[in-house]
Amino acid sequence: MDAFRALENRPQSYHIVTYGCQMNAHDSETLAGMFGQMGMREAEDRKLADMVLFNTCCVRENAERRALGNVLWLRQLKKEKPELIIAVSGCMIQQPHMAERILKQYPFIDLAFGTHNLYRAPEMLLDLVKKHRRVISVSPEANLIAEGMPVKRLNDYKAYINIMYGCDNFCTYCIVPYVRGRERSRRMEDILREAEALQRSGVQEIMLLGQNVNSYGDGKDFPKLLKALDETGIPRIRFMTSHPKDLSDALIDVMANGKHICNHLHLPVQAGSDAVLKRMNRGYTRAQYVSRATALRQAVPDIGITTDFIVGFPGETEDQFLESVSLVSQIGYDAAFTFIYSPRIGTAAAKLKGQIPADVATERIKRLIGAVEKSTEAVHQSLVGTTEEVLVEGLSKRAGSMVSGKGRRNITVTFAGNLQDIGKIIPVKITSAAVNTLRGERE
Ligand code: SAH
Ligand code: SF4
Ligand code: F3S
Repeated sequence: MDAFRALENRPQSYHIVTYGCQMNAHDSETLAGMFGQMGMREAEDRKLADMVLFNTCCVRENAERRALGNVLWLRQLKKEKPELIIAVSGCMIQQPHMAERILKQYPFIDLAFGTHNLYRAPEMLLDLVKKHRRVISVSPEANLIAEGMPVKRLNDYKAYINIMYGCDNFCTYCIVPYVRGRERSRRMEDILREAEALQRSGVQEIMLLGQNVNSYGDGKDFPKLLKALDETGIPRIRFMTSHPKDLSDALIDVMANGKHICNHLHLPVQAGSDAVLKRMNRGYTRAQYVSRATALRQAVPDIGITTDFIVGFPGETEDQFLESVSLVSQIGYDAAFTFIYSPRIGTAAAKLKGQIPADVATERIKRLIGAVEKSTEAVHQSLVGTTEEVLVEGLSKRAGSMVSGKGRRNITVTFAGNLQDIGKIIPVKITSAAVNTLRGERE
């Protein structure tokens, strides 16, 4: 990128604002890596940056609204600072109607690109600065996996590794298959090489990323990959997201026998009613889900299971909703993300009859959250007296003499400590439980 470095009016600094899931967070790490290679430095504050990039999400309407609101706020800043470059990328832009809208209604956006041409960001930026023109470029489909991209990681001791991209499941409510394209997996050798390099650099935990990690490769390769990664000796391995329909006995077996695989599984169920699951095109029944979770608990007794629920899916009756509530205690979730259904343009469910009024959905989600809180509390209480190995992430926000981090089960633990503990794995005896955290003492 010498051509870029040679430009006199080039931006010297960037600031990235990321919305959405870990995959987007990891894309932002790649973008930061590319900008670093182009000779730009990271600005801590968006007000001090020569270029601000919003890496957006569109999984629900409020994710889009937040991103657009922030972009509009930046228009003000640009009035004071006309040379500011405003860039927008990610899933929201990958939707054709959004790219169109940016082009026509948001003339102050200088650069926009979707998920499929992220790796071309340096060329596009060069074009923009050299020719003083807007670059709005969204490729319809990805057909390659770019390897060997520079990455500026957010964290020194925890790292994301993408193992696959895209999704072929087409759950009827979901926009992801449209904005992330068809499912494609990285080669196992490339993933192993990346993990080994991370381990050598002192990384304590890797998180494998994909929309449906257990359909990695030919659909049966994920347990193999996990086993090979376990053998690299990296201290902790996590992965997400797992689809219940593809949770195989082979995977359960590797989770039970792996030394470094954390005892946590995020297994989104979405709904407890068979009729709703069918309309969502999830590919499993409640009984099948429960039987997979039971098999997992038998093999890994201290497994922590977390999930996602959607409330107010079109046509959801009160009785069908209550089946989601009853599933919470039946499974005994450690935690759950709960979302109100949000219609997405282009998806099958957006056209379904029986859209649920907002007040009904809001009232239902409150009840579901109540059930989840009870379940979380019971799990947290049951852990008092046990020992958790905590990877310390930072000083606790409440008190300076305390540190906090996640145990292997993915629950936050707080205990007495200082800055030197950050990035280390420390065994902690749990002494009490609160709603969001466990408290303990170092062993
Ligand atoms: N690939 C993952 C998750 C993708 S999106 C999986 O299959 O589980 C993360 C979560 O957002 C989903 O699990 C779902 O609960 C929620 N979600 C997705 N689309 C949504 C929509 N249109 N409205 C509300 N919630 C949605
Ligand atoms: Fe969306 Fe379903 Fe794919 Fe998850 S599995 S990304 S919810 S379509
Ligand atoms: Fe959002 Fe895209 Fe992730 S839509 S949830 S950022 S894959």
